[in-house]
Amino acid sequence: MKEINVAVTGGAGQISYSLLPRLISGETFGPDTKVNLRLVEIPQVVDKLEGTIMELVDCGFDQTGSMLATADIKEGVDGADWVLLVGSIPRGIVIDGKKIEERSDLLKINGGIFTDQGSAIGSLANKEAKILVVGNPANTNALIGKKHANNDSQQWFAMTALDANRAKAQLALKTGSDITSVSNMTIWGNHSPTMYPDPYNAKINGTSAAEVINDKKWIENEYLPLVQQRGKAVIDARGASSAASAANAAIDTVKAVENVTPENDSFSAAIASDGSYGVPEGLIFGYPLRTTAPGKVEIIQGLELNEFAQSKIQITTEELLSEKEAVSDLL
Ligand SMILES: NC(=O)c1ccc[n+]([C@@H]2O[C@H](COP(=O)([O-])OP(=O)(O)OC[C@H]3O[C@@H](n4cnc5c(N)ncnc54)[C@H](O)[C@@H]3O)[C@@H](O)[C@H]2O)c1
Repeated sequence: MKEINVAVTGGAGQISYSLLPRLISGETFGPDTKVNLRLVEIPQVVDKLEGTIMELVDCGFDQTGSMLATADIKEGVDGADWVLLVGSIPRGIVIDGKKIEERSDLLKINGGIFTDQGSAIGSLANKEAKILVVGNPANTNALIGKKHANNDSQQWFAMTALDANRAKAQLALKTGSDITSVSNMTIWGNHSPTMYPDPYNAKINGTSAAEVINDKKWIENEYLPLVQQRGKAVIDARGASSAASAANAAIDTVKAVENVTPENDSFSAAIASDGSYGVPEGLIFGYPLRTTAPGKVEIIQGLELNEFAQSKIQITTEELLSEKEAVSDLL
């Protein structure tokens, strides 16, 4: 069997509970690859990972390799081929007597985590490592991590696949279509309520979803907010943020990067802008992507963006620029 080293931060959190079994079951990296798992947690929680590892052993998957629990990010990412950065500090937590509510405070605290994690990844993870940031604010965390990694042979992503899956599911529900008939879904910009899920370039059985639905009012006034606010709706209904669907989206992203994208389709993730579609270079921006060979990802060019799309993309770009500004001392 081949072997792959996968590091996951936030290994004792709720997303990881759904994510880890699927990483080592053969589903994600294939039946012929053994997965060595490195689970990273904060020191207060690291002991709990022993219980997680016991359960993973008890799953009895053929593809399970070695497993390690650590509070040392350097040990965790040493030799990693994939790093899934799931751990972060949630909004509402009390630190030094202060409740962290403001997005700017959250940006700073989590940004601080990603400086150290980024530099450990840049110097110790594999040359061609892929890094997927799930922990919020994902795009700006990835911006900070990538900067501190300072290693251009590695590829950083921030996760927008959950938004893309939500956006596809709502199109399928609206039209009574099978979800497999919905393709080419792009989440442009930030993984936040300013994201732009693109129903004009998404397709249902090969035809523009917006054309199939033929209801501009629904698309612009109902569909967009539905997708943009879906995370909050799940929290309100479940009393906790999305976990199984977030883990599923992380698996989808890894698989999308590891496997050539089917012809006439694309996938969604945020990567460093190269200036495509007029987005300032370097911002970690949600784009339509295609994998041309395992691990080789490119931005799909030439999609048409109408005035509505352009105005939405402008809003999410401005938000990302202001997040960048808020963490400028970390960059
Ligand atoms: N991008 C997306 O689509 C998406 C979707 C859902 C959730 N999220 C985000 O994913 C993150 C994790 O969500 P969750 O529900 O699993 O949260 P959780 O609170 O259940 O788990 C997070 C874990 O991260 C750990 N952690 C915190 N700082 C760490 C550090 N420096 N190193 C290692 N581990 C650390 C915590 O101890 C905790 O166990 C949150 O930021 C959440 O907002 C993103």
